Amino acid sequence: MTKETYYITTPIYYPSGRLTIGNSYTTVAADVIARYQRLNGKDVMFLTGTDEHGQKLQESAEKAGLEPQAYVDSMVPEIKNLWELLNISYDQFIRTTDKEHVSSVQKIFTKLYEQGDIYLDEYEGNYCTPCESFWTDSQLIDGNCPDCNRPVQRMKEESYFFRLSKYQDQLLEHIENNPEFIQPSSRTKEMINNFLKPGLEDLAVSRTSFSWGITVPFNKKHVIYVWFDAVCNYITALGYPANTEKVQKYWPANVHLVGKDIVRFHTIIWPIILLALGVPLPKQVFGHGWLLMKGGKLSKSKLSGSQEKYIVDPVVLSKLYSVDAIRYFLIREVTFGQDGNFSVEALESRINTDLANDLGNLLSRTVSMIDKYFPEGLPEESEVADLDAEIYQLAEEVIQKVDVEFSKLHLSDALIHIWELVGRLNKYIDQTMPWVLAKDESQKARLAEVLYVLADNLQKIAILIAPFMPETADKMFYGLGVDLKYNENCNIDWDMAQKHQLYPRNTKVNKQSPLFPRIDEKESREKFNKLSDELDKKLNVDKAKSAETDSSSSKKEKAEVTFEQFTAMDLRVGRILDCKKVPKADKLLEFKVDLGNETRTIVSGIAEFYQPEDLSGKNVVLIANLPSRKIFGITSHGMLLSAEQADGTLELITVDNEIEAGAKLG
Ligand code: MSP
Repeated sequence: MTKETYYITTPIYYPSGRLTIGNSYTTVAADVIARYQRLNGKDVMFLTGTDEHGQKLQESAEKAGLEPQAYVDSMVPEIKNLWELLNISYDQFIRTTDKEHVSSVQKIFTKLYEQGDIYLDEYEGNYCTPCESFWTDSQLIDGNCPDCNRPVQRMKEESYFFRLSKYQDQLLEHIENNPEFIQPSSRTKEMINNFLKPGLEDLAVSRTSFSWGITVPFNKKHVIYVWFDAVCNYITALGYPANTEKVQKYWPANVHLVGKDIVRFHTIIWPIILLALGVPLPKQVFGHGWLLMKGGKLSKSKLSGSQEKYIVDPVVLSKLYSVDAIRYFLIREVTFGQDGNFSVEALESRINTDLANDLGNLLSRTVSMIDKYFPEGLPEESEVADLDAEIYQLAEEVIQKVDVEFSKLHLSDALIHIWELVGRLNKYIDQTMPWVLAKDESQKARLAEVLYVLADNLQKIAILIAPFMPETADKMFYGLGVDLKYNENCNIDWDMAQKHQLYPRNTKVNKQSPLFPRIDEKESREKFNKLSDELDKKLNVDKAKSAETDSSSSKKEKAEVTFEQFTAMDLRVGRILDCKKVPKADKLLEFKVDLGNETRTIVSGIAEFYQPEDLSGKNVVLIANLPSRKIFGITSHGMLLSAEQADGTLELITVDNEIEAGAKLG
């Protein structure tokens, strides 16, 4: 029998810096859902990956002094390590620099162009590089990006446009007829009122002022707009446009999980691309809220000081708290769909209360009592009481409620229900007082049943929490002494949580260290301070090391180029008219260079080696036909040639002053 499929995706992350606990939030949530669906017997496809093109990435690479490809290659392993650390069970990891993705996006773009949905025109407006978003003047707030409030760049360039306007009515109809399409429903209203009702403008989907992107196959001056490229990952990962088995099996996706800031791209641009391609739309786009710190967005760009820098770093957090505790906190603390606060205090309080006290103690008390009173395991003879039926009744209700919450992706509510059962079992211990029963030989059968009810329901709880806290599930099975496994050679499924009396009698339990040790606030602060000091030191050493390897790797021989590639380069002599330091950039100089018939502005990273005033009047060599790019707000057009010496110093290549400015080399 073929299994029902379930396709879930996360956004693909920009590998332009270390990912924060905020980015991890989306991925952990997707992982919880994927694990739940797998336990329910579904054939799950869980996709994540990295969004590697665009101006922002190009700028980050420049700042790191690396070619964009080398830069993203150096960042992606860190992201994969993070997902491994957080126990993310993704099935596929897509990179938008994968050649299969690149060629699929080119085919999609060409098809839309050939059918008239993409056309060439000129874009004039504003661009926010951190968000990689186009904005009209009227959309700006106080002249800044309405999403991140940072300054935008004024842009005027030739661009291909995608006819969003042509499909807006069709999209609106789809959204109105499918209330599940955008969730939570408040986001549906937002999209309709803010974007669809006012009318969609055609979208610029190519750029010419920088080069780090997928080239438009029929006009190589242009690279495809990074958001167009990125959203396509959800089908190119399956092999689209080829009609692969994966496409047939998994498309349309069940849910794209995204943060609220990028709902717009997923519910307007992405569905319109699909409508234009004649491909069915995903069943749902779920826009979750943000983890906030100090009332603001938990955003990398707003952090300062090493404490703040580290506390949002999931790798650092995992050195202080267990991964399962972090996963639990992320899902439990914030109602899925709404914003919520992230703080160490809240995390520690959840660990101490929900995990150490409520769940951890429940297990350890149960295990110790079974071990003490029935070291060979619980006997067959036992005495049931009415109270037990009440517990089983609650367990049934809880499981039903958990399923309903999962169907709505109300993940934190699912945990709240599971903890109703945890709380009820703790109360059951207080009500039944097994230590009192143990004192009376005639109550032995009753004692056996009380402990059985606890063990049997703890086994259910272990199954129910497996999607959220995979390691803890296995620890609980171990403590209860049962031969159930989740992480390796999984032999559990969700249905088992619904079955009563599944816990085997005559099972020896295993005492073990607490599931979640209590956190002592003072000790935890000291540990954290020490750790951030160590990390600061390591960061400085790493920086120095990578600077060394960069300079040695740049000495490696480069691959051969063809004669045509060489002659395609426009090498010229230019005369430096003026040179000055770029404010706030230690390494950069801004040059005005005379090319005979024009004056070029060129930014070059040689400020460490020259006094600007020494350079005026020199004849230098430049590559004149590189696309212009913005560096520290200055549009630089061309590149000055320099020689790198063994000690890493750079020397500008200069030529005889007799040669006239603009002369071609070759
Ligand atoms: N590359 C785009 C997504 C392309 S999807 C085709 C992008 N990348 S991102 O790395 O900037 O952000 C990825 C996700 O992380 C987004 O869904 C964003 O909402 C989420 N988060 C980043 N910080 C967050 C919080 N503080 N809290 C919750 N989620 C947050 O956007």
